[in-house]
Amino acid sequence: MVVDVPSIKLSNGQDMPILGLGTYARKPEPGQVLNSVRWAIDAGYRHIDTATVYKNEAEVGEAISEKIDQGVVKREQLFVTTKLWNDKHARSDVLPTLKESLAKLRLDYVDLYLVHWPVSVNDKGEDLAIDHLDTWKGMEEVLALGLTKAIGVSNFNEEQLERLLKEATVKPVVNQVEINPTLTQHKLVRFCQERSVVPVAYTPLGLVSDARPEFAGLDVIKTDPKLGGLADKYGKTRAQVALRYLTQRNIPVLPKSFTKSRIEQNIDIFDFTLTDDEMALVDGYNIDHRCVPSKAFAHLKNYPF
Ligand SMILES: NC(=O)c1ccc[n+]([C@@H]2O[C@H](COP(=O)([O-])OP(=O)(O)OC[C@H]3O[C@@H](n4cnc5c(N)ncnc54)[C@H](OP(=O)(O)O)[C@@H]3O)[C@@H](O)[C@H]2O)c1
Repeated sequence: MVVDVPSIKLSNGQDMPILGLGTYARKPEPGQVLNSVRWAIDAGYRHIDTATVYKNEAEVGEAISEKIDQGVVKREQLFVTTKLWNDKHARSDVLPTLKESLAKLRLDYVDLYLVHWPVSVNDKGEDLAIDHLDTWKGMEEVLALGLTKAIGVSNFNEEQLERLLKEATVKPVVNQVEINPTLTQHKLVRFCQERSVVPVAYTPLGLVSDARPEFAGLDVIKTDPKLGGLADKYGKTRAQVALRYLTQRNIPVLPKSFTKSRIEQNIDIFDFTLTDDEMALVDGYNIDHRCVPSKAFAHLKNYPF
């Protein structure tokens, strides 16, 4: 079964499929990303999220070109995002860095290029604290060259985003941040949506995923019979309810899986609708818990949290 995924309009008029495949893993086996992107495209995913720092752009690119060659998908039907890492925030680094990503991805352009974090460091780990407005000039340049269709940010807090929105010539179309049932982010989501910046949810399964043993002890959401009952009512899993909850808030989601059955499960969320009471139930799991606090950046001037 190939699922047709609805899209959300970005402020530049582009359509972003509201569900995309996340591709990050700390130590993937060779071929895992390649296979997951193949399975995802076969299942109907048209949106893929990668980043330079994931070191998987070559596998993502191989899967995409294979699926294009097989006639499964056309380039213009895909929405591919990649991200600028923290050691390349100098304005003059943006163009060569994106060109390297494009070569690995085997693409002429990406659909969205993001500043991955608001922090900037050199290869010794020293804080460069490069002004976001300088980096953004580089982002506007690659946009003007047609190497990306849109530019945006990730992990920016309200203050950082507000400053950029005020000063930038081209506004960021998205802010990709962690959002899930245990980190509902209502305030930041409202802030973004009121300014026509689409908040995109990374780590959308958060503590719902049973594949994250590191969070044992914070797992009421995995055991609470109320959520189990809700999933059973619709013949879905807890993970599917979490993804549905986010997309019903008009938040695009990027679940990652290397498991074929889960890749297929995670896209199968568009044939049921949670009621207002059920949305409130999922909201009630919020504990403002960050799965991705990135404490390694906590000493840097522009650390966002
Ligand atoms: N911008 C940023 O700074 C940033 C930060 C973090 C993540 N991201 C992006 O967001 C994507 C998703 O975030 P994430 O990878 O941290 O977390 P996630 O997608 O919320 O969770 C991934 C975990 O959930 C498991 N899983 C997937 N589907 C499942 C299901 N239906 N039932 C139970 N478990 C399931 C996966 O296991 P298996 O793979 O074993 O199936 C994996 O261990 C990343 O891959 C990346 O593309 C961006």
